[in-house]
This record gives sequence, C-alpha cells and structure tokens, in this order.
Amino acid sequence: MPDRTATGEEKYRSLIQHLPTALWQVDSRRTGAVMDLIRVEGVRDIAAFLDANPDFVENAKDTVVVSEVNIAAVALFRAKRPNDLIRPVRYLFEADPDLAKRVMVAHYNGERNLIEETRMLAFDGTVIDVRFSVTFPRPPEQLDTTFISIQDISPRLNTERQLRKLQADFARAARIATLGELATSIAHEISQPLTAIVSNGEASLRWLARGDHDCEKVAQLTSKIVTNARRASDIIQRMRGMAAKHELERHPLDLNDAVQEAMMFIGHDVESKTIVLTTAFDAGRPTVVADRVQLQQVVINLLINSVQALVRRGGECGRIEVRTSRDGGGFASISVGDNGPGIAEADLERVFDSFFSTKESGLGVGLAICQTIVAAHGGEIRAANRPQGGAQFVFTVPLADPGLDQAS
Ligand SMILES: Nc1ncnc2c1ncn2[C@@H]1O[C@H](COP(=O)(O)OP(=O)(O)OP(=O)(O)O)[C@@H](O)[C@H]1O
Ligand SMILES: [Mg+2]
Repeated sequence: MPDRTATGEEKYRSLIQHLPTALWQVDSRRTGAVMDLIRVEGVRDIAAFLDANPDFVENAKDTVVVSEVNIAAVALFRAKRPNDLIRPVRYLFEADPDLAKRVMVAHYNGERNLIEETRMLAFDGTVIDVRFSVTFPRPPEQLDTTFISIQDISPRLNTERQLRKLQADFARAARIATLGELATSIAHEISQPLTAIVSNGEASLRWLARGDHDCEKVAQLTSKIVTNARRASDIIQRMRGMAAKHELERHPLDLNDAVQEAMMFIGHDVESKTIVLTTAFDAGRPTVVADRVQLQQVVINLLINSVQALVRRGGECGRIEVRTSRDGGGFASISVGDNGPGIAEADLERVFDSFFSTKESGLGVGLAICQTIVAAHGGEIRAANRPQGGAQFVFTVPLADPGLDQAS
C-alpha cells in the first residue's frame, strides 16, 4: 500500500534512493560564498586563479559536504552505509585530484553541467572508471544543492579495450595474409639483388684468378656486392616490420618516399600483368606524421584491390595512378585510381564494411583495415568512381607542419 501520508518530497526522495544511478547531493554553500567574494574582487580567469592558489581547491574539498546519497552510491564506493559517504567531498577526488578544480571552474563560469570520464578510488582500494556528471543549481532553484551522478563505465571500457586488442590482432593477421599474397613480388624483389651479388662475386673471382690483381676493379665489384646485399636485407627488414606485432608509432616521414616504397611490394604483379603504374607526386615533398608500416599497409591494400579489379576486367591496358598532394587543410592526400570496372553505386557505401566483398576468394577486410588505420591517424578515406571510368580511393594523413601547407 502506498503511504498516503507521505509528502511529495518524501516520495521523491524514496524514489531517488532506489534509482540505479549513483547520486550525491552536495551542499556547496560555503565555497559558493567564497566564490562570490572572488567575483567581487574582479577575478575573471578562475582557472588561472585556482592554479595560483591551490590551497583554495584543497580547502573546498574539506568544506563542501555531501548531504545525501542513494543506495547505488553506497554500492559503487564499496561502502557499508550511507553515512560513510556523508562527509566532505575530498574522497571523490582521490584518484583524480584535478577534477575538483575543473568542477569549480565550471561552477564559477555558470555552466549548467560538467560531464567527464575519469576515475574514482572506492573504499576498498579499487580504482573504478566512471562517468562523472555534476549539475549546478541556478536561481530560482535551491542554490545550496548540487547534484553529482557517477556511473561505473569499467565494463564498457573493458569491452572497448578487448575490442581494440582484437582489432590489432586482426590487422596483424591481415598484414601477414597480405604478405602471403605478395610472396611472388617479394621473392622477385629479393632475387634481383641476390643475382647481382652472385654475378659480381663471380666476376670478382675471375679478376683475382687472372693474377694481374686489378685492385680497383675488384673494389668496384665488391662495393656493388655490398650495395645489393644491403638492398636485400632492407627488403627483408621491411617484411619483418609488416609481420611484427605493432603498436601505432607516428613519426614525421617523407610521404612520397613511403608511398614509393609501398609500390615496390606490387612491382612484380604489375609487370607480370601488364599494368601501367604511374605516379604524380607532390613536388613539395610533403612530410606527414604517420606510422610508416601502417601507412604503407593502406597503400598496398588499395593497390592490390586495383590490380585485382583490373585482372578481373581484362581487356584494354590496365592503368593505376598514384598521387600525393596537400589538401590545403593541414592534411596530405594520397589517391589510388584505376581504369577497372569501378564500384557499383549501391556498394559505394558498403565497401569499407568488414567482410563486404564481391570477390570469390575475398575476405572483405582490406578496406576495413584501411579505414581503421586512417581513422587512427585522424584522417579520412573515401571511395568514388572516376568520371572516365574506374575506381578511385583517396585518404588523408596529417601534415607534420601544416604551416607549409600553402607552399605549392
Ligand atoms: N579498385 C577497386 N575497383 C573496384 N572495386 C573495388 C576496388 N577496391 C575495392 N573494391 C570493392 O570493394 C570490396 C571490398 O574491398 P576489400 O579490400 O575490403 O575486400 P576484398 O578485396 O574483397 O577482400 P580482401 O581485401 O579481404 O582480400 C571489394 O570486394 C570490391 O567489390
Ligand atoms: Mg582487398
């Protein structure tokens, strides 16, 4: 039976007690009064003021007092009873001491709410990931009452963490699969310097056998051997880089060089399938901030797709054009276009979805990975059909020095 004698406020309180969201009612009258004084003194930049007077924030943590909490709040802080939480607010800021300052700044500046993802230290020592929201009163509301709600977001963050790890593993698996696909090209690329090493070595031995020891000639041949051995070792290193477990490592790098290097991976495919690969590189040599291996992964995936599109189409000479340029907005763009069959209008929206593929043996992960990588760099990737036929993919990566963007 409902309690017919309860007042409106009591009913409302009982409801709040049982809300599943952890709630705090806070009485901030005392700091409010001090804040008013500061305002009268003419302080405008409250953040700077609090930075210069850290005691002010520390003092507020002890004078602003929790007046009421609900059951969910007790559970969230692993407390025994509400009274454990009904005391100065200092305990709310143990894991993130600066949060108190940000709350005061928001209050002083007349904001209605402050919402942040942060951490709290529960009474049993557990650090909880939370979404902290505070709502400040405005006249004619009760000015002494501030509401704080705290939501435990650890399960969500854990899921996100697992998802990120899964994505990284997935991307690595795909990179290794790409390497497998490129085996012929890579073998071809390595066998060239090896052949050169063998023939230079043999020539050198012949010179030595003649007995007229032409040191200069032998030195020339030996230095060619060294150059070619370095080249083979570079290629192997690059493959290792692609197969390795890899955290995102962004550094300034020469975009044209990185793209050119990525093109090497499909060199053999292009030669053996009579595809003409042309480049139009930005003459200003843009420097971008990117993870070299991942940037190259994107270019390689796009190139493989173009080669596959051209092979499927057959007919006239296949063309792939790779361009780099600065887009005027602090980004460099890289485009890979081909004169293949293009993408069906209805598929343009879906090509970046995981597992979307129109190929018999396609997994449909190439472009999904490209999108993840480009997004992690703060750029964008788009698919379009070229007016003259064929598909074109354009993606952007941030320039190291956006100030030079207007240079060319
Ligand atoms: N250059 C292109 N020309 C025409 N269609 C393309 C081109 N690039 C991608 N597509 C379309 O987008 C789809 C998705 O490409 P994505 O690279 O994600 O997967 P996939 O190439 O099919 O398989 P995977 O890359 O996993 O081996 C392709 O199946 C194809 O339909
Ligand atoms: Mg693909």
